[in-house]
Amino acid sequence: MKLSAAFALLTDLRYAIQAALWPTLKALWTQPSLLFRPQLISRQFMAHVWTAFGSSVDEGGRIVKQGLITPNAQGVVLDIGAGHGHTISYLDRAKVTKYVALEPNQLMHNEIRKAANIAGFSEEAGTLIILPYGAEDTHSIISALEKPELVDTLISILTLCSIPSPEASIQGLVDQVVKPGGQFLFYEHVLSPRKDVAWWQRFWTPVWKSAFDGCRLDRPTDSMVDKMDVWSSKQLWGKEGEDEENLWWHSVGRFVKKE
Ligand SMILES: C[S@@+](CC[C@H](N)C(=O)[O-])C[C@H]1O[C@@H](n2cnc3c(N)ncnc32)[C@H](O)[C@@H]1O
Repeated sequence: MKLSAAFALLTDLRYAIQAALWPTLKALWTQPSLLFRPQLISRQFMAHVWTAFGSSVDEGGRIVKQGLITPNAQGVVLDIGAGHGHTISYLDRAKVTKYVALEPNQLMHNEIRKAANIAGFSEEAGTLIILPYGAEDTHSIISALEKPELVDTLISILTLCSIPSPEASIQGLVDQVVKPGGQFLFYEHVLSPRKDVAWWQRFWTPVWKSAFDGCRLDRPTDSMVDKMDVWSSKQLWGKEGEDEENLWWHSVGRFVKKE
């Protein structure tokens, strides 16, 4: 593997620090109690990183998302780790009846609300729900959905890398929240099939996850999902034209739950 590819991550890290360190320090100055809650500091940092880079990351995945989300998402959509709500712009409003955003970082909720309102979803009309939970908190998610309402389309965009136990969380959500015949759509960066790239992904993960709210580079989440015995149909593909030495090697999936 070329050293420039192996160390590419340092450039991203430098840009992220430049964009997010100062506003995070300002938040610490105004709320010193954050010092006793390191996870909240990490979330402050991540929210500022996403303000600076969320749109360019979205742009980098636009073609994949247009092919994955727009033609397939329908009914009640649950977006795991909704971030600033970038997924909303790929939803076909004529097919999606309700957008449920699951986002534990509450500093991101206003951006989700803005994006959802622009697309015609609102809390007042009952077409938007924003939940402050992690994907692992299945119990709270079920309690917060009305009736409880089941979900037609579960979506995860660049989020399974940050969930503490992705396999258990996805299994829990698919078993208890997704309707029979419902689907799971994902676009994730995953463990590379190339051994040398995987080595560097494992090497950098401790540094990367400390800065970016638990985001791991070395997760084979695509094969975790593929192995689950709950699907009636499975489609798994890669990101066209991606450099094999990319530390953020992407995988795309559309899986349909058994009836
Ligand atoms: C890289 S961002 C992606 C955001 C969004 N999906 C997008 O494509 O723009 C990852 C998101 O996962 C969220 N996240 C972190 N831990 C999570 C968890 N346990 N459950 C659900 N979301 C989580 C983060 O707060 C962050 O918004």
